[in-house]
Amino acid sequence: TVALNVAAKAAGKLYFGTATDNPELTNTAYVTILNNTAMFGQLTPGNSMKWDAIEPEQNVFDFTGGDQIADLAEQTGKIIRGHNLVWYSQLPSWVTDTTWTAETLTSVIQTHVTTEVSHYAGKIYAWDVINEPFNDDGTFRTDVFYDTLNSTYINIALTAARAADPDAKLYINEYNLEYTGAKIDAMVQLVTDLKASGTPIDGIGIESHYILGDVSASELQTNMEALTALGVEVAITELDVRIDLPATDADLEQQKSDYETVVGVCMAVSGCVGVTIWDYTDYYSWIPATFPGYGAACPWDENLVPKPAYDGIVLGF
Ligand code: XIL
Repeated sequence: TVALNVAAKAAGKLYFGTATDNPELTNTAYVTILNNTAMFGQLTPGNSMKWDAIEPEQNVFDFTGGDQIADLAEQTGKIIRGHNLVWYSQLPSWVTDTTWTAETLTSVIQTHVTTEVSHYAGKIYAWDVINEPFNDDGTFRTDVFYDTLNSTYINIALTAARAADPDAKLYINEYNLEYTGAKIDAMVQLVTDLKASGTPIDGIGIESHYILGDVSASELQTNMEALTALGVEVAITELDVRIDLPATDADLEQQKSDYETVVGVCMAVSGCVGVTIWDYTDYYSWIPATFPGYGAACPWDENLVPKPAYDGIVLGF
C-alpha cells in the first residue's frame, strides 16, 4: 500500500505529517515508523516547543526537547511546524501570575518570540505564532495577553517572528474552524485586519480534532476558501477523529470515511498545503486523557497496526 507522505506529494501537496512528543522517542517500534520519510514528511512537536518547555523562568531558555525533535526531523528529511509561540495554555506561572503593564508584557512576548524563532531560524517551515486566540462565539479569548494588550498582542508576536526568521511561514492556529459560524467569521475578520495593517500573516491552521461522523466537507471547504481568498494558505494541523469507546467495526469504517473526507477537502483547495495528524497511533493519542470515554482517534491502533482510517487517507489524496 502507498505511504502517506508519498501519496500527499504525488497529489501535489507539500507534506503529510504527524505530531510526536519527546517521551515517545524511546519506543523503537514507534520511531521506526515515525522516521520513515515516505510515511511522514513533516513533524510537529506536541509539547516541547511550547512556552512552559522553552522559557520556564523569565529569560531562561531550554531548547533541549525542541532540539531533539528538530534534529530528528533534519536527520530524516522532514520539515517542521513549530508549535507554538503564544497560547493561553501551557504557560509557565511566571507569565500568568505576574501583573504586567502593556509595556512589560510587550517586551516579554518580544523576547520569547525572538529568542525561540531565532534559535530555530532556517529549520522551520511554519510557526504557529498564535494558538487558539478565539472563543467559539468569535470573541477574543480573555487571557493574560488579551487582558493586558487587547488583540495587539497578535501583531506584536507576528512582527517579532517575521524579524527573527523571514523565511518561516507565520500561522495562527485554531480549533472549530471546521464549521461555519461565528468563529471562522472572526478569523476571516482578523486576517483581513492583519493584512490591512501590513502585519505579517501567511497561513491559518485548522486543527481538525473531529468527533466521529461530524465531518462536514462543505463547511470545511467553505472555510478554507474564505481564508485562502484573503491571500493566506491553510493547513490541517492536528487531525484526529475520536470515537465513543468501545470502537466497533462500523465505527472504524465511519472513521475511514471521515479521514478520507478531510483529506479530500484539502485536495479540493489549492491553498491547502498539507495535513498533519495529532500523533499517528492510538497508543500516544492525547484524546483519552482529555475527552474521557473517547479514543481510537488515530490512523494506527495501539499496537502500531494501520486501521481502516489509513486507507481513508490514501483514498483522500
Ligand atoms: C496537547 C498535547 O497533545 C498534550 O500532550 C498536552 O497535554 C496538551 O496539549 N490543541 C493544540 C495542541 O494546539 O497543542 C494540544 O496538544 C491539543 C489541542
